[in-house]
Amino acid sequence: VKTAIFISGGGTNMAALLYASRLPNSAYEVVLVASNVPDASGLGLAAAEGVGTFARSHQGMSRPDHDAVMEQAARDAGAECIILAGYMRILTPEFTERWQGRMLNIHPSLLPKYRGLETHKRAIEAGDKVHGASVHLVSSELDAGEVLGQIEVRITQGDTPETLADRVKIAEHQLYPRVVNEYLGRANDPEHLLQKIRDLAL
Ligand code: GRF
Repeated sequence: VKTAIFISGGGTNMAALLYASRLPNSAYEVVLVASNVPDASGLGLAAAEGVGTFARSHQGMSRPDHDAVMEQAARDAGAECIILAGYMRILTPEFTERWQGRMLNIHPSLLPKYRGLETHKRAIEAGDKVHGASVHLVSSELDAGEVLGQIEVRITQGDTPETLADRVKIAEHQLYPRVVNEYLGRANDPEHLLQKIRDLAL
C-alpha cells in the first residue's frame, strides 16, 4: 500500500515507519513525506533516503486551502493512505471524511484518556502510574477515531513531561510501524475498509 506521511517536526516516527517499511514483507511503502513546516528536519532525512518530499507552510492560507494543497500532494504521489506522524494541524472534516479508514494518527496517551495537547504533563499531574501511546484511525473529532493499537509506558518517580515524552517516543517507534503494517496488511481482505474504498473507485 502506498502511503504518504505528514509531519510538522523532527519526524522520528516518520523515520521509524520509513525504515520499518524496508523490512521484508512490509505491507506498505512510503511514497511521500509532506510537511506544513518547510524547515522540518524530518524532510531532510526523507530526501536523503530517496523519498519524495513536499512542504507548504499553512501561514497565510485558509485551513481548507492548505488541506487541499496537502491532499493534492498526497494524490500526486499516488498515496492510498495518509499517516499522520506529529502533524500539528487540525484537518477539516471534509478532508478526514474523504480519507476515512485510510488516515492514521499516533497520539501520546492511552486514548480515550488525554486527547489534545500536553498529555505527558497531564498524566503526571493526575498521578497516573501508566501512560503510553495509541494509534487510531482519524475521524473528524480530534483524537477520537477507532483505536487500532496501544502501548503502555510506566510513569516513574521523578519523571518530568520531558523524560516521560522521551520514553513514550521510543515506545511509539515500536508501536506505529507494527500497527500500520497489520492494518494495511489486511487491505486486500474484502472486508477491509481500504479494499471497499478501492472497489467503489473502480
Ligand atoms: C509524537 O509524540 C506523536 O505521538 C505526536 O507528536 C509527536 C511526534 O514526534 N503526535 P516526531 O515528530 O515523530 O518525533
